[in-house]
Amino acid sequence: MERHLIEEPRGRARSTANETGTAAPLIPPRPTISKLQEVARGCRACPLWKTGTQTVFGEGSRRAKVVFVGEQPGNDEDLAGKPFVGPAGKLLDKALVEAGINRDEVYVTNTVKHFKWEPSGKRRIHKKPNAREIAACRPWLDAELGVLRPEVIVCLGATAAQALISKDFKVSQRRGEFVDSKLAGLVMATVHPSSILRAPDDETRHREMKKLISDLGNVAKAMRSLEVAEWEKHTSEAIARTRYHAEFKLLDVYFTTGKTYRYGHVTAAEVRALMNASSLGTYFNQVFKPQHEHVWPTRS
Ligand code: URA
Ligand code: SF4
Repeated sequence: MERHLIEEPRGRARSTANETGTAAPLIPPRPTISKLQEVARGCRACPLWKTGTQTVFGEGSRRAKVVFVGEQPGNDEDLAGKPFVGPAGKLLDKALVEAGINRDEVYVTNTVKHFKWEPSGKRRIHKKPNAREIAACRPWLDAELGVLRPEVIVCLGATAAQALISKDFKVSQRRGEFVDSKLAGLVMATVHPSSILRAPDDETRHREMKKLISDLGNVAKAMRSLEVAEWEKHTSEAIARTRYHAEFKLLDVYFTTGKTYRYGHVTAAEVRALMNASSLGTYFNQVFKPQHEHVWPTRS
């Protein structure tokens, strides 16, 4: 196998196989985000290492409950070496603020870590990564998710959604929905912020921005409920009180109907069903009411 020595910025040399079609051999045995970031700088597992200026690794809080996954770095990200710092990133920041999500509390990354482009005059025009490049880069994303173990994953656009949820996933049909996935308790796809930048007119742009903020609003609700870890669901015939044990990924539900109550564990799929309920706002108000504490059986 052909081997090349790659200069690491810290002055150490690391040998890395070129364009083997998978970054898997580069993943360190006990990865941390910093270690991954460092090793990924020298990745040459697919031809995109030549196209991009540098590897643009994920960035954000190491304690993030939510990970956002885009497609690939754009022109500005390629030059800055940081994800989502260009126009799409600014739009994402704005939508996060509107939705009540602090960017400091999240982690943002991409499906592919190098910028793929073609020249158009003096400009570098974004080009979609192909299936081989996405597959080659996947071990980096899997390693990031493995280290962070987020409660919530948000796929921004079709590339991330099809890589992480399913090959035929249609963002236009299922955006904003929490879907079944082994990757995290709550997994959602929404549009890529750059699709809003490409809107044909102001009215469309405005409408699409509102929809993105609404999708992210549901992510914010999920985040808050994980923080508060307790919330309520009211119906005319029953009150269900739920308590999420983030550490066990378990949700206890206490149903009170008149004087009786039932108690049980619900699965992640049932949590998603609750979160997806159209009457989410009414049924799932996430208000912690300590006065109800006494009706909850204590866990032994
Ligand atoms: N678009 C992406 O998908 N990722 C970035 O980091 C920037 C733009
Ligand atoms: Fe490695 Fe991913 Fe860059 Fe390809 S795109 S060289 S797999 S970091």
